[in-house]
This record gives sequence, C-alpha cells and structure tokens, in this order.
Amino acid sequence: MNAIITGATKGIGWEVAKKFAENNINLVLCSRNIEELNVVEENLAKINQNIKIYVFESDLSEKQQTLAFADFCLNSFDQIDILVNNAGVFLPGILMDENNGALETMIDTNLYSAYHLSRKIVPTMIERRSGFIINIASIASIMAYPGGGSYTISKFALRGFSKVLREELKEYNIKVTTVMPGATWSNTWAGVDLPKERLMQASDIAESIWTVFKLSPSAVIEEITIRPQLGDL
Ligand SMILES: NC(=O)c1ccc[n+]([C@@H]2O[C@H](COP(=O)([O-])OP(=O)(O)OC[C@H]3O[C@@H](n4cnc5c(N)ncnc54)[C@H](OP(=O)(O)O)[C@@H]3O)[C@@H](O)[C@H]2O)c1
Repeated sequence: MNAIITGATKGIGWEVAKKFAENNINLVLCSRNIEELNVVEENLAKINQNIKIYVFESDLSEKQQTLAFADFCLNSFDQIDILVNNAGVFLPGILMDENNGALETMIDTNLYSAYHLSRKIVPTMIERRSGFIINIASIASIMAYPGGGSYTISKFALRGFSKVLREELKEYNIKVTTVMPGATWSNTWAGVDLPKERLMQASDIAESIWTVFKLSPSAVIEEITIRPQLGDL
C-alpha cells in the first residue's frame, strides 16, 4: 500500500506517518522544509526499513507547487492507495480584526491544497476503482468559536469539499473520511499553559484514523468528531 500525507513533519501528520510506517505502508510526504523532511525520512526508516519513503519540499498554499507535488507522488509509486490531506495553518483572530490576507492564506492552505492535490490523484483511484481519502478538518468545521475567525471559514469549506467527494466517489469504491479533531497538542499550542491531559495527543488522531482502515470494504466512517475528554477549550 502507498500513501500520501501532506504536512507530515509535525503534529498530526507526523503521527499518521509513523502509524502508517509501523503498518508497512509506503509513504510520500511533503512540507515546506526539506531539512525537517530529511530528518522525518531518517526517523521513519528507523521504524521500518522495509518501506519506501519519498519526501518533497513544497508550499501547498501555492497551486503550482501543489501540482508539482502531485506529479512527484504519481512518479513515485505505480498507484496511490491513500491520500491524507492534512497540511493546514491556524491564524487566530476575529473577522473584523484579523490581518488582511488571513482568509486568503487559510483558504489557500487549508482548502485549495486539498482540492488541487485531490483533482490530480483521485482520477487514478477512479481508474482502479479503489482508494481512501482522509481530510483533516476540525471542530471548527462544525461550529464557530471565539478567535476562530477565518480558520473556521476555511475548515467549514474543507468539510464541504470532503462531503462532495464522499458523494461523488462512493460509486467508484473510494472511501472518504472527514476527521474533525478538537484541541490537539501540536506546534499550534506551543507555549500554552495547560495541563498535558487537557488536550488530545496527535497520536490519538492517528489511532482513530487507523481504526477507520480496519473496517470491511462495505463500510466507511464518513466523519469522526474527536474532542478532549474535558471538551473544547
Ligand atoms: N492541533 C489542533 O488542535 C488541531 C485541531 C483541529 C484540526 N487540526 C488540523 O490538523 C492539521 C494538522 O495540524 P497540526 O496541529 O498537526 O499542525 P502542525 O503541528 O503545525 O503541523 C502542520 C504540518 O503541515 C505543514 N504545513 C503547514 N503549512 C504548509 C504548507 N503551506 N505547505 C506544505 N506543508 C505545510 C507543516 O510543515 P511546515 O510548516 O514546515 O510547512 C507541518 O508538517 C491541520 O489541518 C489543522 O488545521 C489541528
């Protein structure tokens, strides 16, 4: 099996990459930092020497770079079985106050990256009538909250994209799952003074994604909502 994971150097993307590596899935990964990607590649090879790992530096907020990454993925493997659209940014703010360009940056990164990459990869899945797509949305895909600003707009849109894919791809035997995590320890929360147990671990999200794969071919988990035990922050 071969998987693409966007934004795989940190946080949720890194934990999903580890989980897949442990389970013998070959990987093609990206982020905007080739040094970090090289470290990730080395660390994954230590976890499993038998898988193939390819890394590619690209800024997925740029359409041309997303398309270049898609070509790299298609050239890396004969077929892509799993696509995890994970790369995303959170620029906190309120709509009337956030920096100019915040909406554009987050739509480019959180929505268009998944849209453009999927439009290159999914046709190959349709041809084979097989595939799995995981879109990492957010609790901000189902509710607005203070300080969410344009992030919420981008994540509502990503969930909409994911729902459309689900409807369009069911007849081709391609599964689509939208994952909507609440607060999860990652770079986004660096420096926040809260007890460790108040937020989820990125490995919790990876574990729930792995559960999705264990179902029989006739079932799909369409959406996962996963929150800290004590609720939203
Ligand atoms: N953590 C949470 O509380 C939480 C909750 C709900 C949903 N999510 C979602 O989960 C996903 C992962 O978030 P995270 O918290 O794990 O974030 P993170 O720790 O900041 O990791 C984000 C990853 O995406 C990469 N990335 C960011 N912008 C990129 C771009 N323009 N092009 C290519 N790669 C890019 C980052 O690498 P570089 O910066 O080096 O490019 C990094 O590898 C995001 O979609 C986020 O919205 C997170």
